[in-house]
Amino acid sequence: MPSSPKPADLLAWYDRHRRELPWRVTPDMRAAGVIADPYHVWLSEIMLQQTTVQAVKAYFEKFVRLWPTVRDLASADTEDVMKAWAGLGYYARARNLKKCAEAVVAEHGGRFPETVEALKTLPGIGDYTSAAVAAIAFDEAAPVMDGNVERVISRIFMVEDALPTAKPVMRAHLATLTPAKRPGDFAQAMMDLGATICTPRRPACALCPWRDHCRAFHESDPEFYPVKAEKKARPVRQGAAFVAVDGEGRVLLRKRIESGLLGGMTEVPTTQWNSNRDGGADVSYAPFAAEWKSCGTIIHVFTHFELRLSVYRADVDGSRDKDDGWWEPVTNLDGEALPTVMKKAISAAIPDAFKK
Ligand code: ADE
Repeated sequence: MPSSPKPADLLAWYDRHRRELPWRVTPDMRAAGVIADPYHVWLSEIMLQQTTVQAVKAYFEKFVRLWPTVRDLASADTEDVMKAWAGLGYYARARNLKKCAEAVVAEHGGRFPETVEALKTLPGIGDYTSAAVAAIAFDEAAPVMDGNVERVISRIFMVEDALPTAKPVMRAHLATLTPAKRPGDFAQAMMDLGATICTPRRPACALCPWRDHCRAFHESDPEFYPVKAEKKARPVRQGAAFVAVDGEGRVLLRKRIESGLLGGMTEVPTTQWNSNRDGGADVSYAPFAAEWKSCGTIIHVFTHFELRLSVYRADVDGSRDKDDGWWEPVTNLDGEALPTVMKKAISAAIPDAFKK
């Protein structure tokens, strides 16, 4: 049985091979007295729960440019925050982001609290984010477990239980490894190892600083881990989206109701659909009579279901009644809080709508 891995070996690897990311403080910066900005750490961690490191970089830089401090974000207009978030998905997180910034200002004088327990009392901060912020920004030796870390731990210790049942066992293993010194670097080193070496497929074990200590490498095949419970198939829902364009190159938009999926975001008129219910998919569900022409079907995958939207376009008179919506020039669409599914629908009807 391989001996227990040493955090110091992983930290030495991290010092040479870590990814350079805009929210990270490097050892050189730290030597010069720079400390991690809790606002940056928190913001990046919330965004990283939505998408990849690569995609987060640009969003992170935009947010920090628009709102350089947590106080700026707390006093920002919610609509502007939603617009800046558009495309990251799961818009409840954007609302909580704003609420959390407000709570940090109102209840903590504009400074993030420093412990896992205190961080967890803030809106939108759960087990993962509290541990990540406490470790990375405040050097608390909290075990930080995301999907990459689960994979590393499951292989090193050859955890045979399936996810998600195996999480407590994995967390206990991780706690035995998390060092009192540099716990934030250790957490990020685990993530980088999982993202760049200990990958789901074809892991680069030859380059791994912990290979000698990895049970799955020595006794089995790392690709078999983590063991996953069989997934239920994602339900498929359908509906229709209606892109009305007027003679001045404007599109009819409206605002979704505040509650529920994509609450408060901008959309083109659509039939009602949600994770439990189909909407109508044909032209008889159009919001008003016009010469609606089919532009095909777009598919968008949400966490709990797949949506197939039939897209229709009509060229209409823009002076017509716009009851619950407004006409927006196609050239301004980038400034709207349009979720990705709506951008796909509009692009099906107006192919160059988002091309710069
Ligand atoms: N994934 C989530 N948080 C991360 C971080 N701080 N560094 C790299 N990958 C991450």
